[in-house]
Amino acid sequence: MMNYKMPEGFLWGGAVAANQCEGAWNIDGKGASTADCMTGGSLHVKREYTHGVEDGKYYPSHEAIDFYHHYKEDVKLFAEMGFKCFRTSINWTRIFPIGDELEPNEAGLKFYDDLFDECLKYGIEPVVTISHYETPYGLVEKYGTWENRKMIGFFENYCKVIFKRYKNKVKYWKTFNEINAIMIMPSIAAGIHMEIGKVDSKVCMQAAHHQFVASAKAVKLGHEMNPAFKIGMMILYPYTYPETCNPVDSIEAMSIMDIHYIFSDVQVRGYYSRKAKKYFAMQGINIVMEPEDEAILREGTVDYIGFSYYMSSVASAEPEKKEAAKGNMIRGIANSYLKSSEWGWQIDPVGLRISLNALYDRYQIPLFVVENGLGAVDTIEADGSINDSYRIEYLRSHIEEMAKAVNIDGVDLMGYTPWGCIDLISASTGEMKKRYGFIYVNKDNEGKGDMSRSRKNSFYWYKKVIASNGGELK
Ligand code: BG6
Repeated sequence: MMNYKMPEGFLWGGAVAANQCEGAWNIDGKGASTADCMTGGSLHVKREYTHGVEDGKYYPSHEAIDFYHHYKEDVKLFAEMGFKCFRTSINWTRIFPIGDELEPNEAGLKFYDDLFDECLKYGIEPVVTISHYETPYGLVEKYGTWENRKMIGFFENYCKVIFKRYKNKVKYWKTFNEINAIMIMPSIAAGIHMEIGKVDSKVCMQAAHHQFVASAKAVKLGHEMNPAFKIGMMILYPYTYPETCNPVDSIEAMSIMDIHYIFSDVQVRGYYSRKAKKYFAMQGINIVMEPEDEAILREGTVDYIGFSYYMSSVASAEPEKKEAAKGNMIRGIANSYLKSSEWGWQIDPVGLRISLNALYDRYQIPLFVVENGLGAVDTIEADGSINDSYRIEYLRSHIEEMAKAVNIDGVDLMGYTPWGCIDLISASTGEMKKRYGFIYVNKDNEGKGDMSRSRKNSFYWYKKVIASNGGELK
């Protein structure tokens, strides 16, 4: 019989991002971030990325689920589920409100001291993303965000401050969330004013290069400040199948994955591959680099790969299908073997096993599934219970495949932090009703609700999973 148990010390937990849960967007000295300039949207209405915060518009991050004031209650619930780790991010603008200040904001630093202490009190390891889909808006206005090389210095200064401050509280770090998302949604990922579907790859690759250098500098600095730090990268990983066994479909799928691999290759191996350079030449992408960049990239390779996995994708070389696929956020077409979520994300647990194998075979460094989950509408029953069996089914099937990758295929996996362990604001649509949590938060898309927290059925299920180290998945 298949053994689904994970190795001793496996980091079971959950994940959120500061901008999607904290709220308190202008409290205690915090400045506006790019996330604070994203209006609410829906599956059919794109979020608008405004030039600063404009009057009369609804910005979901401003209050979010007010984790800033509820964190004690929430961490207590995570502890009740038995979390071994909690992945969150630091809101850069709590520490540097504009982004180019020399001195940090003490109130912002204090908040994360308190949050990390609260986690550690229950034996929960904080796993911290340094930049998760928010860039100080001040840096967008004054410097034009990541297209400008000056960003590297601001990021370095921010890292120096947080590494020093949380040196004895945080061991696991990640530099940029879904760093490759800059090629898909540059506004959300890097604050670049550019629409999804109209991405200028020249601008985005230059900005990505600055992030690579910034990340590598952070890794080197972090290791110098505390050799026990484990600093990873984080990639969005949409494994892509060819639609048919027609070899040209395989080439199409390969070329899509090759673009994603530029991001992991540079951060894991420390240089741009020959293939990446060929791609740049073909696309007319001419990255401006400084002479020292190559050495910086080489010296700042990561300790592990964190990745998000929600769905897989399909590629076809047929011109009309190829064109249609470009309009999707993740380039791809429908897979007739898979069902989709209410938001059209194709559910593919086996694809997670394939992804773990593909990444581990390519790099042979530890992996960490730092996001996975099902965004769905939940219904509260008359007795107050929430029977989210669809979410349990999604997570169970993915955990089973993850366990196969570890126990059958020999993949080295550090942990698993399902996304949105407590309901929060959706990054792509800005909605509340696209819920991922084990914990329900009483708030709707219009921002109404008393923010009370309650346990869904998946809460009790996940508690059993953790207690049995994956052995009990029913
Ligand atoms: C990942 C992001 O892309 O997917 C998260 O790192 C995001 O920030 C998550 O919330 C789920 O996406 P969405 O759009 O459903 O919130």
